[in-house]
Amino acid sequence: MPWDPALYNKFKKERFAPFLDLQKLIAVKPGLKVIDLGCGTGELSRILADSLPGCELLGIDSSEEMLRESKNFETEYLTFRKQKIEDAIKDDTKWDLVFSFSALQWVDHHRALIPKLIRMLNKGGQLAIQMPSNHEHFTHVTIRELATTYPYNIALDGWVRDAPVLSIEEYTKILFDAGGQDINVYEKIYPHVLENAHALADWTSGTALVPYLERLPKEMHDPFIEKYKEGLQRQYNMSPVFYPFNRILMSATF
Ligand SMILES: C[S@@+](CC[C@H](N)C(=O)[O-])C[C@H]1O[C@@H](n2cnc3c(N)ncnc32)[C@H](O)[C@@H]1O
Repeated sequence: MPWDPALYNKFKKERFAPFLDLQKLIAVKPGLKVIDLGCGTGELSRILADSLPGCELLGIDSSEEMLRESKNFETEYLTFRKQKIEDAIKDDTKWDLVFSFSALQWVDHHRALIPKLIRMLNKGGQLAIQMPSNHEHFTHVTIRELATTYPYNIALDGWVRDAPVLSIEEYTKILFDAGGQDINVYEKIYPHVLENAHALADWTSGTALVPYLERLPKEMHDPFIEKYKEGLQRQYNMSPVFYPFNRILMSATF
């Protein structure tokens, strides 16, 4: 199953609070040249672009499905391109702001990745990143456990997704070692109240389940999702369900 913009948009309201928090860390200057790594549908790229006077913003994403929606948000100062983050960081183009919201948790090797993102910046440029750090939450641990059981372990050839996300201490040190100034790194819990275990499963289906469904044969999708929902239902046999969502936010100038 590829990224599904409809499923992802179901929790738009909940995703907006961390976006506003990240926006507050950005030093607004006129005419910034900005790249949004993993821009998804582009809706947040548009809000970001509209908040930066005279900016020129490029949103990149590897998902055709998500980018299809981005047509609605294009302007003369906001364009989108299908590109992997791993390829964008090899490019020589320099930016005043490298921005990424809820996407870098899908890219591995952060000890190498973050310095590469910093090398994409012009002198005086800023890095501003938000990513979920909820990989030890029951919703995510359950997916990894399910993936190691038969027949999924065979179909996945033993593959499970290890989260590349580091601790906030490590990110702070990486930013400092790379010469960062005005360093701001914190982890925040966004409290979400969802109707029931099914709503919780819907949330993770739109994100954490994606790489597993991409690798599993189509006929295994429904049984995998059903088994996952059963696990969540056993743990959260209640209504409403409280979901404390950890996220890391960071920014620095270079
Ligand atoms: C959780 S969504 C966030 C989208 C958008 N930033 C937002 O907040 O609305 C994650 C996005 O990252 C994209 N993505 C994941 N891995 C990627 C990669 N290696 N290169 C480019 N985009 C990637 C996905 O296609 C998806 O659109």
